[in-house]
Amino acid sequence: MLVSSPELYVARAKINLHLHITGRRDDGYHYLDSLVAFTDLHDTISVSPAASYQLHITGTGQSFLSGCDIEDNLVTKAARLFAKQFHVAPNVLITLDKHIPSGGGLGGGSADAAATLIALRDFWNIPATNRDLHHIASQIGSDIVACLHPEPVIMCGTGNDILSAPRFPILYAVLAGPRSPCPTPLVYKAYAHSGVPFSEPAAFPDFFDSAFSFCTFLKTCTRNDLTQASIAVNPDVAGVIAELETLSDALLVRLSGSGSTCFALFETEDKARLHATQINKNRPDVWAVAVKIG
Ligand code: C5P
Repeated sequence: MLVSSPELYVARAKINLHLHITGRRDDGYHYLDSLVAFTDLHDTISVSPAASYQLHITGTGQSFLSGCDIEDNLVTKAARLFAKQFHVAPNVLITLDKHIPSGGGLGGGSADAAATLIALRDFWNIPATNRDLHHIASQIGSDIVACLHPEPVIMCGTGNDILSAPRFPILYAVLAGPRSPCPTPLVYKAYAHSGVPFSEPAAFPDFFDSAFSFCTFLKTCTRNDLTQASIAVNPDVAGVIAELETLSDALLVRLSGSGSTCFALFETEDKARLHATQINKNRPDVWAVAVKIG
C-alpha cells in the first residue's frame, strides 16, 4: 500500500530590518513601526491523523524546546484555538521540524503557529478566510499575523496590523547572536524605563532599485529603538554588534526585534557565507548563520 507523506508547511524566521517605537498603549503595550522580512532559515510543520492531540518535535533545534510543556508551545496554542473556533476535535499529530533558534527574536514560534493555522485549515478542509486566520493569530501573539504571509510587510499597531512593504532586491545576511536569550518582556520594560522619546514611523519610498540604496536608506532614516534596552538586558548583544561592525563590506549592521539576534546585510551570498563561517570558527561564544532575505 502506498502511504503518502503529509504535506510540509514552511515556517520562516523573520528579521526586523528597522523597528521604531511610536507610542505606548494604556495597558503598557507598545505601538511599533517595523519592516519585517523573512529568511530561508525555516522550520516545517506537518499534520497527520491521530487519536488525540500530539506534538512531535524533531530537527537540529529540538533541544531548544526540550523540557518545555507542549501546552506552552505556540503550535499547540494555535491548534487548540483553531479547533475551538471551527468546532473540530483537535485529534491530530503535528510534527514540528525545528531549526530556528528559540529565544533569539527570530520569530520561530510565531512562524510555527502561523504555519500550523494554514496546515490545519488545509488538513480539515475548513473554508477559513484570511480574516479568520488573522483574528485567531492576533489572539496568540504579536508577530503571528505577519507570519501568515511570509513576504516583507510593515508591522504596525502593537504588531498585529500589516501594511505593504517597499519592494527591495534580494539580500543576504549573517544572523548572529550570543548563546543567551533576551526575554522580550524585559527588553520592553527596560525601554519603557529609559525615557527614550517615541519615534515617527519610517517614510519609505515604494521601491529601491539596489541593495545599496535600500541599506543606505535603512541606515540613515531608520533604527532599532530597542537596541539600548536589549543591551541593558543582555550585555553580550553589544559584543555581537561590535563583531559584525568589523565586517567592512556589510551594508548594514543592526539588532533584530528585541534581540538577542543581530544581523549584517550583504549584496552577495558568498560574502554572507564566508563571514558566518569565520565567526563560527573564531567566536565560540557567538552563533552565526548565512541566510537569504526576500
Ligand atoms: O506578544 P509577545 O508575547 O511577543 O509580547 C511579549 C511582551 O513584550 C509583552 O508581554 C509586552 O510586555 C511586550 N510587548 C510590548 N509591545 C508590543 C509587543 C510586546 O510592550 N507591541
